[in-house]
Amino acid sequence: MNELNILSSSFEKIKNYLESNNDTNQPIVPFKTPSELKEVIDFNIDKNGVSEQEFLELVDKYLEYSVKTGNKQFLNQLYSGFNFPAFIGELFTVLANTSMYTYEVAPVATTIETEMIRLMNSYAGYTNGDGIFVSGGSNANLVAMFSARNKFLPESRFEGYDRNYKLTAFVNEQAHYSFETAANVLGIGSKNVIKIKSDTNGVLIPSELENEILKSLQRNEKPFFVAATCATTLLGAYDPMDEMAKICKKYHLWLHADGSFGGSLLLSDQHKHLMKGIEKTDSFTWNPHKLMNIPLICSALLVKKRGTLQHNITDINADYIFHDIDQIEDLGKKSIQCGRRVDAVKLWFAWKYFGLEGYQKRIDNLISVATYAEGIVENNTALELLADRQSFAVCFRYIPNYKTDLNTFNLELREALRKKGSSIVNYGYIGKTLSIRLITANGELKHSDIDLFFDNLMVTAKELEIQHTQPRHP
Ligand SMILES: Cc1ncc(COP(=O)(O)O)c(C=O)c1O
Repeated sequence: MNELNILSSSFEKIKNYLESNNDTNQPIVPFKTPSELKEVIDFNIDKNGVSEQEFLELVDKYLEYSVKTGNKQFLNQLYSGFNFPAFIGELFTVLANTSMYTYEVAPVATTIETEMIRLMNSYAGYTNGDGIFVSGGSNANLVAMFSARNKFLPESRFEGYDRNYKLTAFVNEQAHYSFETAANVLGIGSKNVIKIKSDTNGVLIPSELENEILKSLQRNEKPFFVAATCATTLLGAYDPMDEMAKICKKYHLWLHADGSFGGSLLLSDQHKHLMKGIEKTDSFTWNPHKLMNIPLICSALLVKKRGTLQHNITDINADYIFHDIDQIEDLGKKSIQCGRRVDAVKLWFAWKYFGLEGYQKRIDNLISVATYAEGIVENNTALELLADRQSFAVCFRYIPNYKTDLNTFNLELREALRKKGSSIVNYGYIGKTLSIRLITANGELKHSDIDLFFDNLMVTAKELEIQHTQPRHP
């Protein structure tokens, strides 16, 4: 392969891609069904490989049919946006291709990860804390629950979990599904994750938490773990950690903060009050790959007490890898992974570039744009706000000018938008009501991007209305 040739063509492709990311006349994705996609891209691996030219064409096709998540009309997921310094950080991380287990093979990256954990802990108020980058928020939640289990039942690490203890965990009824998976993986069982009622804004009700803990104790179970969600996936609600911490202290339970979505709010002096009490938690999931716009994956589990993560790991006497020769603790000794991606370096590059204040402004901007979007919904009689905005999520629906099933109509509306590729938002259910969910995650969003989104939505909704109300000709 002529590397120089490929490199210079790739540079051109990156440049074009970045330009197209900002071009609102181009679709976010030219929608294709799975079978249509197979018609435009040859997914099979041939015996003899492909030529350089074909290789480059495949790169074009990959980019063409992938969703442009950096486009400002991509308001669909809890991550979005193209963070250029982080992209460069990722590029050079891949170039230097190493693994995070030892200082020996990753001296700079090890030092960077240690510094990022220190900085993140300083925001969390963990004065004697530690942490590790993991492969996503779900896995951070798993390691948090694992740490709690190993604190209360340390023998489980060697003997396996004794189910006679009947461990129970407690989460907001709107918490992320990863807690059930974590309980499943740890042998605790997903049904032992007890869902706590939340109020109409999606915020966990502390008195309900205490009631459920008491009921669990009466059933002779052993409550051990409580998770506060810092921005729930649908409504963006923040659970009251201060009050939850009091309850956890009273019953000696581990309190975890799942800030996978909204943990980055801590960077904002103006809004961090929503995370009051974070320093009282035992562990904290923080995903810079969401609101800090770091390319996926970039996710950390922070723990309040140093030594927690090392305590989880058994049989670390792997002298074929850990040689203890560099006057530093190898990070691999506190990870459940062996080989581990270098995910802290792209964060470090971006944070270096934007600075502490720069990131604060980016998070403040996300809230400001979400507030603006909420205002548009409130001032448009064809739109209905379905829950008060808590943070970065605006949940609403369109009310057509004729009587119809609103869930069906709004589902169609969201699908029509997605298939056009002009703007992409997601949806979920608040009770039985289908809600369109707009997320402000891209730090560079402007009010004009939100205006464009609502223009696109209204045009598409009107088209649907006409389609449904026009008499059908046989
Ligand atoms: C509240 C919450 N927790 C956990 C997760 C899982 O994070 P990840 O997608 O990084 O595994 C999400 C993802 O959206 C989330 O919203």
